[in-house]
Amino acid sequence: MKPLLQKLTETFSPSGYEAAIREVIRAEVQPFADEIRVDALGNLIVRKGKGGKRIMVAAHMDEIGLIATHIDENGFVRFTTIGGVYPNLLLGSRVRFLGGAAGVIHTEPTDKPGDTPSVDKMFIDTGASNRAECPVKIGEVAAFERPFLDLGKRMVAKSMDDRVGCLVAIEALRAIRETPHELYFVFTTQEEVGTRGAETSAYGIDPHLGFSLDVTAWGDTPGRLGKNFEMALGKGPAIKIKDGGMLSDPRIVNWMIDTAEAQGIPYQREVLLGGSTDARSMQLVRAGVPVGCVSIPCRYVHSPSEMVDVEDVQNAIRLVTELLSQPVEI
Ligand code: CO
Ligand code: ZN
Repeated sequence: MKPLLQKLTETFSPSGYEAAIREVIRAEVQPFADEIRVDALGNLIVRKGKGGKRIMVAAHMDEIGLIATHIDENGFVRFTTIGGVYPNLLLGSRVRFLGGAAGVIHTEPTDKPGDTPSVDKMFIDTGASNRAECPVKIGEVAAFERPFLDLGKRMVAKSMDDRVGCLVAIEALRAIRETPHELYFVFTTQEEVGTRGAETSAYGIDPHLGFSLDVTAWGDTPGRLGKNFEMALGKGPAIKIKDGGMLSDPRIVNWMIDTAEAQGIPYQREVLLGGSTDARSMQLVRAGVPVGCVSIPCRYVHSPSEMVDVEDVQNAIRLVTELLSQPVEI
C-alpha cells in the first residue's frame, strides 16, 4: 500500500492537468476493470460488474496548485492559485512545473518581518536571471514538490487530498471478488476548483446511488482539541453526515454505519462545518441521487505535508469493499 501511495502522491497533476495521474491510476486498475473510459472532462471511469444497481464511487485525482501569471524582466514568476492554497503555507515551498522546471517561493519585503503577504506579493524563483532564461511561460501550472514521508503508523505527503482516496478506490476495486452491482469507480478531475469532473461524470453514469472518497479535516492537534470538530487520526474512517455543501442521505449514512458495525470496522461520525466533496455534485445531478461520503481523517489538509493514519486507510478500504460487495436496498 505505501509504495502505491508514494507513487500517487509524488505525481504532479493540479486541477485541469490530470493526464499524468490518470495514466498512473489506469495502469493500476486495468487488471480489475470490466471497462475503462475517459470522458470529455478527463474523468477516468472504471466499471466493474454489469446489470445491478449503478453505484458511483468518486475519488478526485487532481490536487491544488499554482499557475504562472507574469514573468518579470529579471526572470521572477508571478502566480495565482488553483484551488484552496493558503498563502501562509507557500513561503519557502518548492514547486514543480509540469514542464519540468522547479522553483522556490518567496515574497517582496513585508511591512513587518514575519507577516504573511498576499499571493500577489509573492514570486517563484526558478534560478533564472532574466525573462529569456526563465523556463516557465505564462499559464504553466505547478504543484508542491515534496517527497512522501513514511512515519510508520502515519504517512505524510503533498496531495494526500485526495490521492489517499484514489488509493482506497484502487485497493477496494482490487479486493472486490464478486458484486451484485454495476460499479463505477470514477477518478474525477477538477474537484479542487468546484467538483466539476464529478458533475459531468455523474450525469453520464446516471447512478442510482453513490458516495465520494475524500479526506476530511481533523480535530486532534493543539488548539483544536475539544472544539467543534471531532475527527481524530487512528479512530477509523469517518462517515459523513454533513459538510459545508451537502447533507448526506440518511439511508446512505445508515447503510455505511450498519456495514461498519456488522464487520467490526471502527468509524467516526462526521459533521464538517466548511468544505465539501464530489458527493455534492453527484447529489444534485439530473433528478437527484442519494449520496454520502467515506472520509479519511487528514491533518494539515491543503498544506504541502498532509498526514493520514495507516489503519484509517486500511479500515476505509475494508469498509468500501464490504459496502460494494453486498446487496443494498436504497
Ligand atoms: Co481538497
Ligand atoms: Zn479533496
